[in-house]
Amino acid sequence: MSDTQNGKSNGSAHVAPPSGMLAELTHRCPLQCPYCSNPLELHKAADELDTKTWFSVFDQAAELGVLQVHLSGGEPTLRDDLEDMVAHLTKRGIYANLITAGVTLDRDRLARLSEAGLAHIQLSFQSVNAERADRIGNAKNALAKKLETAAWARELGLAITLNAPIHRQNIDEIGAYFDKAVEIGAERIEVAHVQYYGWALKNRAALIPSAEQTARAQEVVDDARLRLKGILNIDCVVPDYYAKYPKPCMCGWGNEFLAVTPTGVVLPCHAAQTIPTLEFDNVIDRPLAEIWWQGSAFQAFRGTEWMQEPCRSCERKEVDFGGCRCQAYALTGDAAATDPACTLSPHHGAMRDLADGESADQPTDFIYRRIGLYSA
Ligand code: SF4
Ligand code: FES
Repeated sequence: MSDTQNGKSNGSAHVAPPSGMLAELTHRCPLQCPYCSNPLELHKAADELDTKTWFSVFDQAAELGVLQVHLSGGEPTLRDDLEDMVAHLTKRGIYANLITAGVTLDRDRLARLSEAGLAHIQLSFQSVNAERADRIGNAKNALAKKLETAAWARELGLAITLNAPIHRQNIDEIGAYFDKAVEIGAERIEVAHVQYYGWALKNRAALIPSAEQTARAQEVVDDARLRLKGILNIDCVVPDYYAKYPKPCMCGWGNEFLAVTPTGVVLPCHAAQTIPTLEFDNVIDRPLAEIWWQGSAFQAFRGTEWMQEPCRSCERKEVDFGGCRCQAYALTGDAAATDPACTLSPHHGAMRDLADGESADQPTDFIYRRIGLYSA
C-alpha cells in the first residue's frame, strides 16, 4: 500500500490523505453577497483553469484519496463544462456535490448534470423573504428562481442541502428558514453563521448580530432540532464571537481538506490567502500530492507543534486545533495565535467588545462583492 493510502508522519503530526476537496471553478457570479467567502481580489474568466487541467486535478485528487469534491465558485454553473466535470468525477468514483446559488440553472441543464452522476446540490438562500433576498444578493427575483431550481432538483431525485448564511439582517428569519427547508424537501439545512474574513470582514458592521439576537436564534435552532428530528438534519455551530471555545476549523489545518482556486492555487483552507505570510503552490507547477504532503502552506499549521500558549498546553488542542487560523490572523495579526473566539485567548475580551459595539450601532451599507473592486 502506498503512503498516500496509509498516511504519513510529518514532524509530530500523523498526516492522512485529504477526504474532501473544494474546487472553486470560477469567481464569476450573478450575485454579489457582501459576506462572500471568495478573496477580495477576484479573478476574471480568462484566468481560469481549462477543462483539461481540471480533469488532471480530479485525477490527481482521486489518486491522493479524495472521496468528495465540492464544485463551487463564484457560481460553478457559469462554467459550460460543468457536466463534463461531474461525469469525469463520477468516472473516477468521486462523489460530486454542487454548491450553487440556484439562479442560473434550467431544468434541462439540471437533468444533464443528474445524468452525469450528480446526486446532491447545496442551494444557498440569502433570505426566505423575496425583497430581502434581492437586497442581500444585489440581484432581482433570486428567491423565486431558487425555489424553481429546488423543485426541479426534487423531481430529478437530487438530495438538497439548504445553506443559510446567517447575520444580523436575516437572523430573525431562522424559524422561517427551517419551514422553507421542509417545504422544498431538503434533507439537510446548514445554518452558517457568517465568518468574518475577506468580504465579510469588510462588511462586519453590517452583518454582525448581537448576543441577544444570537441567543434567540439558538433557542429556535434547539427547538427545531427536537421538532424536526427524523425530518431535517440541522447543522449549526454557535457563532465564534459568542462561543466559549472555537470550532475545529477545517477539522484541523492540512488534516482532511484542501481547496483549489479558479487559477489552480492549492489552499489548506478556502480563506488561507488572507494570511499574507503564507506561500502557496499551483497545480500547474507542482503535483497535487506533493503539495498536500510537502507544501509549505500545508505544513505551516498542521498538527500541534506550531501552537503557542494557551493552546500548547491545553487539553482541547486536538479537539478544536486552536480554532481558526484565518480568524486569528484577522483579529490579532498573528496566524499562529489562539483563535480569539476561545475564552482562554488573551484577545477574547477585545473580540467580544468589538462584536457588542458594532452590533449595537446601525448597520453600515453593504460593500457588494464584485470582480475588479479590489485588483487581482
Ligand atoms: Fe482550543 Fe486553544 Fe482554546 Fe484550548 S486554548 S480551547 S486548544 S483554542
Ligand atoms: Fe481559514 Fe478557519 S477559515 S482556518
